[in-house]
Amino acid sequence: MLKPNKLANKNFLSSLDISTNEVIHILELAKNFKNKKINIEFKNKVLGLIFDKSSTRTRVSFQVAMSRLGGTTIDLNPKTSQIGRGEPIKDTARVLSRYCDVIAIRTFDHSNLEEYAKWSTKPVINALTDLEHPCQALADYLTIHEEFHDFKDVILTFIGDGNNVAHSLILCGALLGVEVRIACPKGYEPDPFVIQKAREIYKIDNLLKISNDPYAAVNGSNVLYTDVWSSMGEEDQKKEKDTDFDGFTIDSDLVTKADKDAIILHCLPAYRNKEITDAVMESENSRIFQQAENRMHAQQALLSCLLSK
Ligand code: CP
Ligand code: NVA
Repeated sequence: MLKPNKLANKNFLSSLDISTNEVIHILELAKNFKNKKINIEFKNKVLGLIFDKSSTRTRVSFQVAMSRLGGTTIDLNPKTSQIGRGEPIKDTARVLSRYCDVIAIRTFDHSNLEEYAKWSTKPVINALTDLEHPCQALADYLTIHEEFHDFKDVILTFIGDGNNVAHSLILCGALLGVEVRIACPKGYEPDPFVIQKAREIYKIDNLLKISNDPYAAVNGSNVLYTDVWSSMGEEDQKKEKDTDFDGFTIDSDLVTKADKDAIILHCLPAYRNKEITDAVMESENSRIFQQAENRMHAQQALLSCLLSK
């Protein structure tokens, strides 16, 4: 454990909320949980979940992670709580702080998550916003570390939309010194603020590369990663985006341009034969389901850091 644990009682709203040492610590802890090398108990601690968007992996992995720590979870469905009827965030946050020990929130505007964090006296975790998906990035880099045992010389290429998943991959990749390449259609580049922050973290080495050419980007890559072209909340842009992203599918031909031992990642859910072909998803190089499992181990580690004294 890092001593003193600087993550205790902190929020995790962004990959920017943790340092390089803290990410490495969380990943080490996650590996220890996964290999059953440690047993940390947070008996009677309660995790509140507020999900304004659908979720399978994040919700269930948080529930199981908390249960493995000896605690419990309360799933506050916005439709059946007063949240969905417009109770102000500042009221909900102050009330839930008195019942729960930590709260994970999935919502649209990142500013709403920040508003919860402002009023909550308990740690708030970003379970995905339109801007970031930092818990996903922890599991992604855990999966990469399991494969390559080091981040040095790893080249990760994300092919697709410069979205929330890409943003957290960029920021966490910058903390870990990983070369991150983004290949997206023109107009779908990552948020300039995220790019600027990543460049500040990388300092001298410019290890973040943004291009509009997936074939050039994957050349020599060790990790190929993609996500849906239309994220939750973008349902009305689906037709337009399907056209704009033509040529950005991870298919067997594109995979052959990467390093021969390259692994394939996808945060899921996937639309087969849109952003990734069925053959690539089911190929030997795919680590997609190991990556999904790692959500649970990474979040168990994160929770244990935030809940510890
Ligand atoms: N990857 C991910 O966050 O999946 P869910 O939307 O199912 O939680
Ligand atoms: N970018 C996707 C990720 C889903 C886990 C979305 O926001 O819908």
